[in-house]
Amino acid sequence: MIEFQAVRKEYDNGTVAVHELSLSVQSGTITVLVGPSGCGKTTLMRMVNRMIEPSSGTVLVGGADVRDRDPAQLRRGIGYVIQQAGLFPHRTVLDNIATVPVLSGASRRAARTRAGELLELVGLPQHLGSRYPAQLSGGQQQRVGVARALAADPPVLLMDEPFSAVDPVVREGLQDELLRLQGELDKTVLFVTHDIDEAIKLGEKVAVLRQGGHLVQYAEPDDLLAEPADDFVTSFVGRDRGYRRLSFVDSDGVRPKPVCTVDLGERTQPNPEWRLALDAAGRPRGWLPPGTGVDGPLTEDQLVAGGSLYTEHTSLRGALDAALSAPSGLGVVVDDDGRYVGVITARHVLDVLDQQRGGVP
Ligand SMILES: Nc1ncnc2c1ncn2[C@@H]1O[C@H](COP(=O)(O)OP(=O)(O)OP(=O)(O)O)[C@@H](O)[C@H]1O
Ligand SMILES: [Mg+2]
Repeated sequence: MIEFQAVRKEYDNGTVAVHELSLSVQSGTITVLVGPSGCGKTTLMRMVNRMIEPSSGTVLVGGADVRDRDPAQLRRGIGYVIQQAGLFPHRTVLDNIATVPVLSGASRRAARTRAGELLELVGLPQHLGSRYPAQLSGGQQQRVGVARALAADPPVLLMDEPFSAVDPVVREGLQDELLRLQGELDKTVLFVTHDIDEAIKLGEKVAVLRQGGHLVQYAEPDDLLAEPADDFVTSFVGRDRGYRRLSFVDSDGVRPKPVCTVDLGERTQPNPEWRLALDAAGRPRGWLPPGTGVDGPLTEDQLVAGGSLYTEHTSLRGALDAALSAPSGLGVVVDDDGRYVGVITARHVLDVLDQQRGGVP
């Protein structure tokens, strides 16, 4: 869908931002460009919609050389999302989203109706449509930015560090949302970040760039972690790559075991075991430490907060994290609806990993 052929960009001051780089981005996938600040990511991305012209080489979109396209028309087929969302401050949220369809000739009314649907698609309530960007949180603005980029239903989406200005929790939500959206929309997404964790989470393929606009490795995330091409990639993917790679190991073989449970609202005698407190829907709420009993009905403020929850059949990384973060050392396993299934220990998770590797010698 997007192809860079020996693309080079040298700015007027002699800076070589991109060095004869070739890369092809498959249609219908999220491809991530990752690398340290100044390595040429933004420059490379902006050559796709002709905001920057290459010094030499060719960029193809959908098989056609972008030089043969009218820039304004080209950009209507390419959504563009940037850091801080870049919304127009004096237009309401709905008008921001409707911008491109109106430019392309849609009636204001049709464009606003569509904008309302897009608000919902990116997980925002309708009443935000009449606000101005400054009246939204950073995460909400970012969602509006995504909605605006999707408004013309472009086959290609360029996203330049769209989530880097929001806090880590909101950021994770936005990442999950993008993955969900992509599952529905099947766009070709070129996504820039300098955060390797974000790259690994979002990218079906990840291109690692280094200073001077050199492409060092282009691979699926699992391969990047398993076999970094050189010392630069090794240091860039970081020291926990063994742990992070667990994200790609499926957790078939993890067998949750039962643990003592108590229901909120119940009276309970002291007990020598860690006990997991469940609410009326069977969802875990926290732990009752060994030796603790309660006089009256059990309430949440009598509990020790639990660790992360592990949703069954997701990756081993989540399973191990649940075990390591639980005060009891027992990671809580839940089903898709968040209901208690059982518990696992870190030892058990590591045994599953050893078995998958073909057993311990
Ligand atoms: N208009 C310009 N004129 C001269 N040099 C530029 C220009 N724009 C960018 N550069 C230089 O080109 C190199 C690549 O810049 P670019 O913005 O593509 O990097 P980046 O990887 O996006 O960095 P960051 O992660 O900080 O956004 C940098 O050294 C930058 O200083
Ligand atoms: Mg940049």
